[in-house]
Amino acid sequence: METSVVTSIDSPAFRAAVDHRHALIAEVEGLDWDERYPGWRARYASFYAESFELGTAALIAYDRNSGYGGSCMASVQREFRSAIMGQGIGYLNGLYVLPDLRNRHVGSLLVRAALLWLNAHGCPIVRLHPSQTSNAFYRRLGFRPVQEFEYGEARR
Ligand SMILES: CC(C)(COP(=O)(O)OP(=O)(O)OC[C@H]1O[C@@H](n2cnc3c(N)ncnc32)[C@H](O)[C@@H]1OP(=O)(O)O)[C@@H](O)C(=O)NCCC(=O)NCCS
Repeated sequence: METSVVTSIDSPAFRAAVDHRHALIAEVEGLDWDERYPGWRARYASFYAESFELGTAALIAYDRNSGYGGSCMASVQREFRSAIMGQGIGYLNGLYVLPDLRNRHVGSLLVRAALLWLNAHGCPIVRLHPSQTSNAFYRRLGFRPVQEFEYGEARR
């Protein structure tokens, strides 16, 4: 099984990852972002174009020869503790595996590749917000819940 690290928005892998993001939101939140947030795909691409340029994010894609079967995004967080302590915090999001490829270790492969990339980019700590159905999956990979508060109501 093969993963690749992609840092260009002008790549088939990035275009597939945008579709994966759309499918992820539809599956997990029951929302159609094309309807709810028209133009989000272009804004998403320009957000990551900047992060790729800065070297603070990478797309990890699973290539199954006939197309991309899954992907996730790894990002280096910009926050003061990293600068003070020399211990960066990475963030993993958008993990998605096409339904017909699930339970074949593609998801874990993507997470491990993202952890490697983040470790190599100064982030021994990696955080994420699990979807309700992926909690147990992340626990199996060694993630543990940490306390976090939120004020206000996040848009969905
Ligand atoms: C969550 C997801 C990425 C898992 O991908 P996957 O390729 O099926 O996962 P893997 O095959 O690598 O699973 C690794 C192990 O975790 C188990 N596992 C997978 N999904 C699980 C789940 N939802 N709950 C509990 N265990 C799970 C597998 O059975 C496997 O166990 P094993 O090592 O004993 O064989 C995939 O189900 C998915 O895309 N879900 C929808 C999107 C989503 O929720 N993404 C997370 C966003 S934060």
